[in-house]
Amino acid sequence: MSGDDSTNLSAATARTKKLFDAYEVCNQQQNRYPEYPFIDEPVRRCAAKNGMLYDIGCGRGYWFNHYQELGVPKANITGVDLSDAAVSRLHSQGYRAIQADSTKMDRVGSEVADLVIATGSLMVTEDTHQAFKQCRRLMKPGGEILVNLYNIYHPYFWFIHKLTWPLRTYGEKWVRYWWLPFLFFFQVQNYIRRGCFLNRPDLEAVFYDQVMVPFAHLHSVREVRSWMEESGLTVLGTGYNLWGSMFWVNGCLAAKPATDGPR
Ligand SMILES: C[S@@+](CC[C@H](N)C(=O)[O-])C[C@H]1O[C@@H](n2cnc3c(N)ncnc32)[C@H](O)[C@@H]1O
Repeated sequence: MSGDDSTNLSAATARTKKLFDAYEVCNQQQNRYPEYPFIDEPVRRCAAKNGMLYDIGCGRGYWFNHYQELGVPKANITGVDLSDAAVSRLHSQGYRAIQADSTKMDRVGSEVADLVIATGSLMVTEDTHQAFKQCRRLMKPGGEILVNLYNIYHPYFWFIHKLTWPLRTYGEKWVRYWWLPFLFFFQVQNYIRRGCFLNRPDLEAVFYDQVMVPFAHLHSVREVRSWMEESGLTVLGTGYNLWGSMFWVNGCLAAKPATDGPR
């Protein structure tokens, strides 16, 4: 499915869209580093049953090569993202991709996915819980869901996102200069995590993604677990992503009962 769902966006989500369109233009990464502990197990199970995998907030399909390496055919992967730039790029590579706001996803359908993966995306929407409910709606009975969100107990996003609100609120027109003071911080951080420095466009992309993004909600594992259990899912595992053992993103994996209907 193609087309554009941008006309119904709130002003804040339209700002998020603009930002991630810019992010897609300057970011040069293609594959994600293996930082998410649960990702392989559910993807392998999805591949074993030739299931349909939906990646919500997929960006340019950072995980799509990995899914295929684990046995999910390209035709079984669907990406959903707010950014037109990301979706167009996926279409040009022959992927199925849908432009939609994950807090609505009316155009995506219900009970379509054997596995829903939302890594690092639901918490930058206006309402993380609402986006989670939409993801749950996509799950087929017997399907699984993996959600990764910023950890509320880690100081990183309090420092990098919450304290920098004046930049986002008053300084957007100077954005090209603002990322310079963060150069040192992000370069040191990247060197510790990955043993290399970022190039200039990737540095700018990280700045957009982590400082300028309008929303960055922080959540605990307990909160996400309660969303999953309240909506009738069985939690299969919770944990943290080990970016340099820093626990700044948490992960929750859950399954939907085989006899359950949509909510
Ligand atoms: C940091 S990237 C994460 C990409 C990828 N999932 C990963 O694991 O690296 C966040 C993505 O969420 C998307 N996004 C932000 N708000 C969204 C929304 N309301 N609906 C759908 N996608 C959204 C952005 O366009 C961006 O591609």
